[in-house]
Amino acid sequence: MGVLKRYGANLPISARTPGVNLEEGSTPLVRLDRIGGDLGIELWGKLEGCNPSGSFKDRGMVLAVAKALEDGARALVCASTGNTSASAAAYAAHVGAPCYVLLPSGKVAMGKLAQALIYGAKVIAVDGNFDRALEMAREASRKLGFAMVNSVNPYRLISQKTGAWEICEELGRAPDIHAIPVGNAGNISAYWAGYKDFREWGKISGLPRMVGFQAEGAAPLATGKPCPNPETVATAIRIGNPVSAERAKSAVLESGGEFGAVSDEEILAAQAMLAAKGGVFAEPASCAALAGLIKLRGAKRLPEGSKVVMVLTGNGLKDPDAALRQTGEPIRIGSSMEELLEALAQ
Ligand code: F0G
Repeated sequence: MGVLKRYGANLPISARTPGVNLEEGSTPLVRLDRIGGDLGIELWGKLEGCNPSGSFKDRGMVLAVAKALEDGARALVCASTGNTSASAAAYAAHVGAPCYVLLPSGKVAMGKLAQALIYGAKVIAVDGNFDRALEMAREASRKLGFAMVNSVNPYRLISQKTGAWEICEELGRAPDIHAIPVGNAGNISAYWAGYKDFREWGKISGLPRMVGFQAEGAAPLATGKPCPNPETVATAIRIGNPVSAERAKSAVLESGGEFGAVSDEEILAAQAMLAAKGGVFAEPASCAALAGLIKLRGAKRLPEGSKVVMVLTGNGLKDPDAALRQTGEPIRIGSSMEELLEALAQ
């Protein structure tokens, strides 16, 4: 029914807020017993790739765009590693607003670039990384009076809390551990705030430990050191200077959780495992969460039998190149039955 309809009573909307709706949210929470069995836990995956533009960004974008319309914004602007731009472009198209997106040139997965372009946004490839593109987008929004729809926009994070609310409603409680990839650090902050809301409202009693995972080449929070030249196969989280760093640090500290870093190899291995043992195809950044859980298990720091939810933030179809680089080729045959039977017997 869309996030604004399902949770409108708990979101800052009024009679003047337009009812934007692409039927985002209410995503599947899937129990992954084969992988959970390997890790000795009860594992659930929140399939945020099932949102209309294929990532969790839609949850927050719907409110950010509704508020921008309510405030009479002339246009939307964002910087993005890909998913925010796809989401902003989709909602802009849906409501008929101009949209400008700044992307780090050559570092955005093909599917996301195709989305921003086909939804009709003006796409600008910046010869710099995401962190620089974000500074430029912020300045442009100030100079030109455009609504900034990155997670610096408070409505984004408020509406992203709905992911935590859904999990609690479905499980009837909070998980013991909430695992999530961290880039600009907005989503981990939003989930933590969402869990705390539910406890404050008396709907749950316990809170999860928040564990956030970054890619080794872009891990300012896990290492505690700035990262001026981030690099990783998980381009969605190729971020060196997270805007919501302080909020995310509080989430980890207050919840007794931790940040961790995982290598590109570990991320890709987790992606393959999730697909082959879970039937879920998530993009590399999403799989940093599973890679992190595997690492915790290896270090004997994943309590046996824990109820764990990981947020699978984006759809694997957005970045088919990353998957194809690690899979084999199909078996090629002619069109005879003999060849087919031979191939099937291999
Ligand atoms: N997973 C995916 C698939 C993402 O696209 C992002 C962020 C994250 C995780 C990290 O979330 O930034 O809230 O910590 N993508 C942003 C973008 C930066 O521009 O699409 P975060």
